[in-house]
Amino acid sequence: MLVTDLIRAKRDGGALSAEQIDFLVAGLADSSIPAEQVSALAMAIFFNSMSFEEAGRLTLAMANSGTVLDWSDSDLDGPVVDKHSTGGVGDKVSFLLAPIVAACGGYVPMISGRGLGHTGGTTDKVESIPGYESTPDFATFRRVVKEVGCAVIGQTSDLAPADRRFYAVRDVTGTVESIPLITASILSKKIAAGLGSLVMDVKVGSGAFMETEAKARALASSIIQTAAQAGLPTRALLTDMNEVLGCSAGNALEIAECVRYLRNERRERRLDQVTLALSAEMLVLSGVETERAAALERCEAAVADGRAAERFARMVAEMGGPGDFVERFDQYLPSAAVLRGVHVDGYLESVDTRAVGNAVIELGGGRREVGQALDLAVGFDNFAAIGDRLDAQRPLAVVHAADENAAERAEAQLRAAVTTAGEPPGARKVVVDILTE
Ligand code: URA
Repeated sequence: MLVTDLIRAKRDGGALSAEQIDFLVAGLADSSIPAEQVSALAMAIFFNSMSFEEAGRLTLAMANSGTVLDWSDSDLDGPVVDKHSTGGVGDKVSFLLAPIVAACGGYVPMISGRGLGHTGGTTDKVESIPGYESTPDFATFRRVVKEVGCAVIGQTSDLAPADRRFYAVRDVTGTVESIPLITASILSKKIAAGLGSLVMDVKVGSGAFMETEAKARALASSIIQTAAQAGLPTRALLTDMNEVLGCSAGNALEIAECVRYLRNERRERRLDQVTLALSAEMLVLSGVETERAAALERCEAAVADGRAAERFARMVAEMGGPGDFVERFDQYLPSAAVLRGVHVDGYLESVDTRAVGNAVIELGGGRREVGQALDLAVGFDNFAAIGDRLDAQRPLAVVHAADENAAERAEAQLRAAVTTAGEPPGARKVVVDILTE
């Protein structure tokens, strides 16, 4: 079989056969298909899409390209459940939700991704914690999930390796925004993780891969239906991504925000709503709770009384990070050499959130090419929310940069990415909808 035949078939609007998809996945997993062919194929699929059957086959083949975990012999006394986001800017929900759900009786074996396109990656963020082993062996992963109730790790070389390679190429070739490719990428990892159920956070808005609600709904429906075919009960929350989620964007800065949240020092309103809504949905879908309202209360209590913080601290320590990370995170996280407040005047009206994500990449916090090492300290902090009144006292954001030149460029990019107005804009829903099909 020739890869060029697959590329030409998709270029000309045709479909790939099951055998061709299996051939592609094998070639992704063992790297026998070179990056230029992978990227040409990804671009052809971006333009001409894939049928439901092709996407389903791609999902299962990528899930089966490596180890598929099975928790049935782990003797867990609660359900195995996870959440996955379609990707956003400042999306740090996983670090909050995993310990919250664990504190409420669920088990969360979270296999996360690296930065993708303009969006940040959970695996990159967790690597800003010194010593944290983001790609442990399976025995460690299993032990930590069983003992702590959650473990956030990156894709190891034997979990959905075909997706890992495809993802890395899509990241740097402008080929992420494809419903079948996002569906297959997310679900292959989740099926390989051996979950009992999955809650999706489908982002919509200027910082999401799906900018319109219609496209986000189409992606949610593709994921729910493909997951159902694979026997994985899945629901999706449609959540707003028209601005940075929480008040930071950048790897270590986001981890710091999470610790402050778990210590109940600062819980930014939108981050709080999205985190609690997703956590509660996981409890309901996995059968820990029957009512959404009771599930929400249970999640809130786990944050308020510090049990979620305690789970997070144990997870960090068990994964090789400092035992006192929650107490002394600011001494452990890397920090940038230059801090610069960016001031504008008026009510923050709109944010081109993709441009903010791209500015993080230009600061060095995201990748321009496959395998690039990141500067985990850089990014934006104290990011204002839409509707905030900004002036000489209250900045739009604080840039964290490696040097003055980078800070200056980031400031200009930030100014160009926002609009302000004399009146506050109308309120928007943060959780737009909950979808079951
Ligand atoms: N998250 C993933 O894991 N894959 C995608 O393609 C998009 C978001």
